Amino acid sequence: MLWRRKKPEKKTLAPLVGLEGIEEKEEGVELRYISGRVFIQAVLPEIVRLRISKSEFLPKPISDAVVWKKASSYKLNRELNRLVFLTDKLKVVIPEGEFRFEIFDENERLINRDFPGAGVRFDQDSFQVHRYIFPDERFYGLGDKYGELVRSAKSWIFWNVDVGWKKFKKDPRYTSIPFLISVRRDIYCGWFIDHSGWLKIDVGSKFSRLLSIYGAGKEIDIYFLYCRDLKTLVKNFTLLVGRSFLPPLWSLGYHQSRYSYFSQKEIEELVQEFEKRDIPLSAVYLDIHYMDKFKVFTVDKKRFPDLKGLAENLMKKGIRLVGIIDPGLYADESYKPYLRAKIEDVLCKTEQGEEYQARLWPGKCAFVDFFQEKAREFWAEEHKSLFETGISGIWNDMNEPSFWKMDLRKGELVIPLFGERHPKIVHQIGEFIVPHRHCRNLYGQKETVATIEAFKKFMPGKRWFVLSRSGFAGIQRYACIWTGDNISRFEYLASSISQILSLGLCGVSFVGADIGGFALDCSDELFARWIELGAFYPFCRNHSAITTRAQEPYRFGKDVEEIARKYIKLRYRFLPTLYSLFWQSHTEGLSIWRPLFMEFPKDSCIWNIEDQFMIGEFMMIAPVVEQGANKRKVYFPQGKWFDYWSEEIFCGPDEVEIDAELDHLPIFIREGGILIFQPQPKMKIPWEAIELDLYEGNGKTKFFLFEDDGESFDYLKGKYSLREIILNCLEEKISLTISPKKGKLNIEKRSWILRFHLTRSPVRIFYQKNLLPKEKIKSLSDKIVEVEIFPDDNEQKIELEF
Ligand code: GLC
Repeated sequence: MLWRRKKPEKKTLAPLVGLEGIEEKEEGVELRYISGRVFIQAVLPEIVRLRISKSEFLPKPISDAVVWKKASSYKLNRELNRLVFLTDKLKVVIPEGEFRFEIFDENERLINRDFPGAGVRFDQDSFQVHRYIFPDERFYGLGDKYGELVRSAKSWIFWNVDVGWKKFKKDPRYTSIPFLISVRRDIYCGWFIDHSGWLKIDVGSKFSRLLSIYGAGKEIDIYFLYCRDLKTLVKNFTLLVGRSFLPPLWSLGYHQSRYSYFSQKEIEELVQEFEKRDIPLSAVYLDIHYMDKFKVFTVDKKRFPDLKGLAENLMKKGIRLVGIIDPGLYADESYKPYLRAKIEDVLCKTEQGEEYQARLWPGKCAFVDFFQEKAREFWAEEHKSLFETGISGIWNDMNEPSFWKMDLRKGELVIPLFGERHPKIVHQIGEFIVPHRHCRNLYGQKETVATIEAFKKFMPGKRWFVLSRSGFAGIQRYACIWTGDNISRFEYLASSISQILSLGLCGVSFVGADIGGFALDCSDELFARWIELGAFYPFCRNHSAITTRAQEPYRFGKDVEEIARKYIKLRYRFLPTLYSLFWQSHTEGLSIWRPLFMEFPKDSCIWNIEDQFMIGEFMMIAPVVEQGANKRKVYFPQGKWFDYWSEEIFCGPDEVEIDAELDHLPIFIREGGILIFQPQPKMKIPWEAIELDLYEGNGKTKFFLFEDDGESFDYLKGKYSLREIILNCLEEKISLTISPKKGKLNIEKRSWILRFHLTRSPVRIFYQKNLLPKEKIKSLSDKIVEVEIFPDDNEQKIELEF
């Protein structure tokens, strides 16, 4: 018989029609149409939620990404021919007839409108929403998508998959964050589609004026956010989906990984090399070969005869072990975790109710249904032995979930064949059986939740470290993520910047890419460039694939090793700033890496710049991401900029060609900049000593120093120290104020070096209103002066007179 393509079923797209009833409830308004329901809610004055369903009732949402449960006040006006839903900031207009909506801001400007003649449509088990794109509208966000920062003229799919290095540029990807940001002059809007099933967002790929959202399911849950600046938008989005967990300090150090370090001996030798070569190291990773035949929660005793001893020895040196855990359990009843999972009935089922099996590293596996609370409890419990061996962090890999139908096995290597990206499985969510296609994008996130339960059980009181490959909106509450299996090529080094920046715009700060690249061999030059930039990744891990060239920092010759040492040490010296930025991300939701347009929203030259970025408010990094280049063009936005290395001053707006030999990462500090370093590259908090670098600017700038014990939750009980640092630069004087200490953490008096980077020489310097004698002032040049103080917990004031 000839093979025939199945005729596609005819789509019967229909809008919601026939408004029959309007109910004003305390939390929002419900509209009853003959063919469905709509619920409109003022989440905050600047956030409205629209739940639109084709069924008679609004089902309990599958996704639990949104943690903000409060509703704010609203007013409903029933006008002739339309309904008007009002918050303090927004006006949603619902015209008579089929359900559609338009949104206006507080100045009556139309900020969101239907695409004429389209709007909201439902099919049997899918939906479509069509919106109009304004001619001057630019789009950003959407999480870890590969490619340019600007998301226009493309179609994006949200369906967590193991992209793999060969298809690394492709869509969909490991993580799905359907948060689209639109910018038009000073109008910043966000669309969060809280949909964990298959979803597509088309940002004008076919018609430049058409924004379309397609999804599987019978209900659309949209949060529409509006504000007047990008920082507030990101803060508000993270208010909705939650803010970053505060990582333990050790997890901000340099991490060394490899698929795989094959034995205990290899790791011991590796650590010795780092020590001998004086390269700071905070964690070593155990990839799949530490397990007995890749079975999770087991250890290969031949390769790792004394994992506990190894962990203890490493810990004495301040180095942690992080172990990989995949979501599949080897499906053999002689393997206890599987047997227990089977007995406890916590495995994913097929639509027919049978156990679902597919292949993962150990062979045939069954997969834990992390949506079930009892499955998460089971999973947490299984970690007991791992934690007993002294493992400090857990790496959740393959959790899109990824598995395959066949594989080739060659010695140490497993080569997957025929990946299964649309398994016909179902999940138990509460009392409901939910098809995988409606919730897949939450699977990995739920695994991280289960893993955190393990930390709570076996490391009570200690902050967790979970590294996850997959996630959904809100993943920052649970885990750090990395961008997956990239390639040791310059273009992947470059793209790591836009990926990290875009994730940051979606509230995910703790991110990194595999430094040096995962697949293929890394060249000496590439490694040098990658470690320079990677030393500033929020998550700093060098990782590489089996059979590739060894990628530890000392494998590329003396010169590159020297470069690696210099930048890794700089990262550790920079930790006081970085840790304070993590605190800011935890409390306010702002990302650590920021696109230039977040800090300079009025400058239209920077809308597309993605090879330069800001760390916090003051530091601009302009890495070399091109092979063979020893210079690059750097764009300086408005204001004065200090070259971090040479102190040369650049005045923006301007574009300047900067020399950047192999060992040089161009770093520039914005006028008014406040950076905090420690003199030595140590991993010990409270910091032993502080160095404040202060760059002359115009007017007031602020930063703060946050410290605690770096590992417990005591900061929640007030055991921390928070000091605001305010720099005020005026014509006749510059003053620095360090606010009185907030918090109950005791810190002994220690040295603070205050280093002022100036454009002129001060005549007099006062400390706490007293004139400082000349011998207390160190002039490093006529433009840099240093003063050392030993502050107590009260306010500190330094004034420089000119
Ligand atoms: C996946 C991961 C990679 C890991 C490998 C073996 O490809 O993305 O980081 O090394 O599996 O576990």
